[in-house]
Amino acid sequence: MKVSRRQMVAGTAAIAASFVGGVWSMRAQGASTLEFRSRETSYAFGARPTHGLVSLLDGAPPPVIRLRQGQPALINFTNGLEDYSTIHWHGIRLPNAMDGVPYLTQFPIAKGQTFSYNYTPPDGGTYWYHPHCMTMRQMAHGLTGLLIVEEAEDPGFDLDLPLNLKDFRIGEDGQLLDYFTPRGAARGGTLGNTLTTNWQVEPTYDVPAGGLLRLRFVVTGTARTYRLAFPEADGRIIAWDGHPVEEQIAWPSLREPLFVSAGQRVDVAIRVPDEEGAELSFFNAFGGNPPELVRLRTIGSSLGRDLAELKPLPRNPVAEPDLANAELRELVFGWAPDDAVPDNGLCGTLGYTFWSIDRKPWPGDAVENAGPVADLKLGKSYVLRLRNESPNLHPIHLHGLTFKPIRSNQRSLPKNWTDTILLQKNEVVDIAFVADNPGDWAFHCHIIEHQKTGLAGYVRVS
Ligand code: C2O
Ligand code: CU
Repeated sequence: MKVSRRQMVAGTAAIAASFVGGVWSMRAQGASTLEFRSRETSYAFGARPTHGLVSLLDGAPPPVIRLRQGQPALINFTNGLEDYSTIHWHGIRLPNAMDGVPYLTQFPIAKGQTFSYNYTPPDGGTYWYHPHCMTMRQMAHGLTGLLIVEEAEDPGFDLDLPLNLKDFRIGEDGQLLDYFTPRGAARGGTLGNTLTTNWQVEPTYDVPAGGLLRLRFVVTGTARTYRLAFPEADGRIIAWDGHPVEEQIAWPSLREPLFVSAGQRVDVAIRVPDEEGAELSFFNAFGGNPPELVRLRTIGSSLGRDLAELKPLPRNPVAEPDLANAELRELVFGWAPDDAVPDNGLCGTLGYTFWSIDRKPWPGDAVENAGPVADLKLGKSYVLRLRNESPNLHPIHLHGLTFKPIRSNQRSLPKNWTDTILLQKNEVVDIAFVADNPGDWAFHCHIIEHQKTGLAGYVRVS
């Protein structure tokens, strides 16, 4: 185990660090440190060696950070990059000042500076973290880590496996290709050509035979919507975007895959076979020869567990919106009316404006001199009608608040809590929530090249 190498990047006084599935985990109780660094490295994505890739990483994803529900966390983030940065804790309902959005909640963090993020996560579940300044470049290089908030009571799995799904764009020479293309930014987004799970191509993980596993799939790429297909097995989807499912989601197959967009997460409970050497494959159901994302292989003698031994995950303390008295607001996602190049302060612009919310293109990271797309009263219930006026998919993410989809003009949507909703072509989705967290909350498409070319804004709760 390459302990010292990883510890240069992540370390803490009080961590119980562990190495599962090629990924470092750190338990952040008390004070923890997290540092982003830039270094030259040559490491392999599976069989394809990538020489001279300027990676902001060290051959593995950023560490999985584990927090405890309801317990204060302090994460001292040091920016070791040449560029400015900040960290956003995707899906966590936290105080606005800790949300990591440059100019809106804090100033960009310069090279060598440290910013202390401290908050108490109210909800258990699967979340993630990523920069919110120079977002395109830094996320394309792989600065996207998982954030797990452990439930107060141990749910009783034999193995908890975080699976960070991200596609990289790598050229023949092993270098990263351009992070985005103007063509992609103006349409569906620029996809990577190398699908990785925990920065490995088609990894196989050894898992205990006859055991109960919790798999946490998190899509942290900059554009791609995955179509997950699971093997036939004894299992169920237990959580969606961090929260225990309230409406069941069907077990996806190659024929009927589950769409999981950039920013979204799905937690799966699975009981693996009793015999040693059994293999279970998970796919991205795309094209004639769908790529395998991850394979599980059983080892050891059977643990003889049973799915029925699992209690349902405890519900998180999210307030139920009062639909009878909720106020309706409509927001339109579509093309930008002009091509003014936005001023992004120190956080980088892509040089184009293609998108808008309510016809106003937003800069994406900086929001100086711009008002909110919606001004909401603290404690009131709202329905936001999200209208996609484009033929492209948009995973729309709201910071700081958790909402529920209640209606679509195209399909029946399971009414599960979320922070990121995937809008299909020309789809109109109503979402409902209680505006119970005060502050200015970023609201944007999670296809980063859409976000950075106009499809962004913020909601004010006061
Ligand atoms: Cu995961 Cu504003 O982002
Ligand atoms: Cu979009």
